[in-house]
Amino acid sequence: MRLSRKLQKLFSIDAVQSLWEHICRWTHPVSARRILATIDQAELERLRRHYPYRPNARRINAYEDAAYWIGVNVKHVQDLWLDRAPPLHILDLGCGAGYFLYLCRLFGHEGLGLDTDEELFFRGTTQLLGVRRIVARIHPQTPLPDLEKKFDLVTGHRVCFHRIERDENGVWKEWTAADWEFFIHDIRTRFLKPHGRLLLEFNPRADGSSFFTEELRAFFESQGARIFRRKALLAADQNERPRFRGIKNSPRRAQRTRSNPESTS
Ligand SMILES: C[S@@+](CC[C@H](N)C(=O)[O-])C[C@H]1O[C@@H](n2cnc3c(N)ncnc32)[C@H](O)[C@@H]1O
Repeated sequence: MRLSRKLQKLFSIDAVQSLWEHICRWTHPVSARRILATIDQAELERLRRHYPYRPNARRINAYEDAAYWIGVNVKHVQDLWLDRAPPLHILDLGCGAGYFLYLCRLFGHEGLGLDTDEELFFRGTTQLLGVRRIVARIHPQTPLPDLEKKFDLVTGHRVCFHRIERDENGVWKEWTAADWEFFIHDIRTRFLKPHGRLLLEFNPRADGSSFFTEELRAFFESQGARIFRRKALLAADQNERPRFRGIKNSPRRAQRTRSNPESTS
């Protein structure tokens, strides 16, 4: 009984937060349709034929479905206010097909992706979308490769790099809090500018529950994270509680001179 009440409460908080996200997006509309029109969808289909699905691949991984993925990534851009921010330098970890950084570029930001080269389809899509990426694998307790620059924003959407391997029951063995601590320290000290932000977004677990178990929530909060739904936002300075709105660039806020071509208003 107590558990079901707790679950109800959780769902109602999530429902309110979801509604809030919808309202925020609605007040600053972005036309996914106009963005989609800038992408060569026939070439995406051709790439998929060239690099077919792996056996047992999940349909969610239909990255040639640009209409779906542009829709998803428009929301990411809106939620981080990237459609309204001055030009930023953005590093996207596990950049996958490259849609997020493609959108970032449309809004005047400069992006760099990082991913393994295991998925040949992503090699093709990042080239097609003009997304620059570093081929590297993120390992627990191992510094990321030196990228010789720092960023205003480091992102990871639908993060997978913390999954190490599946056990005999098919359950993922994941990074421990100590692994996360190492990673966050590495990002803070080597990749974030002083005002920079780290945004991590996680898929729900296989049973539908949040990535943020009680223990992980407490850990991320101890690192100064603001947790909102599936996302954790961290500032470069652990003592600063970051906000999603108004991520700044440095040292001066660059003036945006052109009008936003993707706005529906
Ligand atoms: C679920 S996909 C998400 C892709 C993209 N961020 C998105 O939201 O569409 C996870 C991505 O992380 C990458 N990845 C998984 N493990 C990784 C690791 N250890 N190091 C770097 N990239 C990794 C995969 O290649 C894949 O592109």
